[in-house]
Amino acid sequence: MTEIKYYAAPLEGVTTYLWRRIHHEIFGGADKYFTPFVSPNANCRFQTKELDELDHNEGLPVVPQILTNSAEYFLWAAREMYDRGYREINFNLGCPSGTVVAKRKGSGALADPEALDAMLEEIFTGLPKGMALSIKTRIGKKSMEEWPRLLEIYNRYPLAELIVHPRLQTEFYRGHAHREILSDTLRDTKHPFCYNGDVFAPETAAEVLAEYPSIDSLMVGRGLITDPALLRRLHGGAPAAREELRTYHDRLYEAYCVRLSGDLNAIYRMREVWNYLSGNFRDTEAFLKKVRKAKTRTDYLSAVDHLFAEGEMNPCPLPPAGK
Ligand SMILES: Cc1cc2nc3c(=O)[nH]c(=O)nc-3n(C[C@H](O)[C@H](O)[C@H](O)COP(=O)(O)O)c2cc1C
Repeated sequence: MTEIKYYAAPLEGVTTYLWRRIHHEIFGGADKYFTPFVSPNANCRFQTKELDELDHNEGLPVVPQILTNSAEYFLWAAREMYDRGYREINFNLGCPSGTVVAKRKGSGALADPEALDAMLEEIFTGLPKGMALSIKTRIGKKSMEEWPRLLEIYNRYPLAELIVHPRLQTEFYRGHAHREILSDTLRDTKHPFCYNGDVFAPETAAEVLAEYPSIDSLMVGRGLITDPALLRRLHGGAPAAREELRTYHDRLYEAYCVRLSGDLNAIYRMREVWNYLSGNFRDTEAFLKKVRKAKTRTDYLSAVDHLFAEGEMNPCPLPPAGK
């Protein structure tokens, strides 16, 4: 049995290039970091925010992700990534957001398997030689019955790996990941298989891997933003210490202050991070209220200082329900 690999999932607005470097330096551990999606269009030009994601990853194992409904735009982006030295990219067929799905992108593409098949055919025909492509997918749009046909389509192409988040588009992040599809999926897939969904603690990872030993890799998203030491814990290492979390927070906040103009933009970013990171402490309602109200650096840091000085730590950090 080959050793299991652990990946950091992409979270738009959270797992930025700044986050990746800081996370890697403090907590290490991800065999691959996937970028939040870049969304190529007819302009054939990446936005500044997208270029940041592609151009600041020296020394890190980063896989850029593409979200589109067009093989032509996909191939343009793939060539740009090839020219920047990337040899593996990822196709987002999982995003459940209403605006994305309405354009038949992300998990919206799953609603029309024949069109998806045609798009993949064109993409694999035109992909630069030597460029590996993985897919990150949900298991359908509205019904679990869609999954066998989608898997059949994925089996027709030489994917580097198949990353599956077993929820339907319509479920967003509600309920539980449908782990029950894994037995049939692992039997039928022709690709290296990565499981992604609701792994928030080493015990859950151990449970999934014991039940489905042919899984090749595990991807963690919300669990890793809640507990940045999660990958280290999955390798048998120590949980995050309070001082470590403080250093992680300060470096991230200061990096956003430098990159984004004005106090408020950095605070907005940190609000999203705190939605998850607050899971490391007990009784954080008052703290989160203060962070949501903070408009200045002074107010923001005073709330954070208080939490780190007085907050009781939670030994089993969990992300907020339904987020
Ligand atoms: C705020 C947020 C942003 C996300 N952005 C992306 C994205 O850009 N690309 C992507 O493939 N998935 C994205 N996802 C989905 C995650 O990568 C992951 O598949 C999902 O959270 C399930 O894994 P988890 O249970 O470990 O969190 C996002 C999820 C959240 C909550």
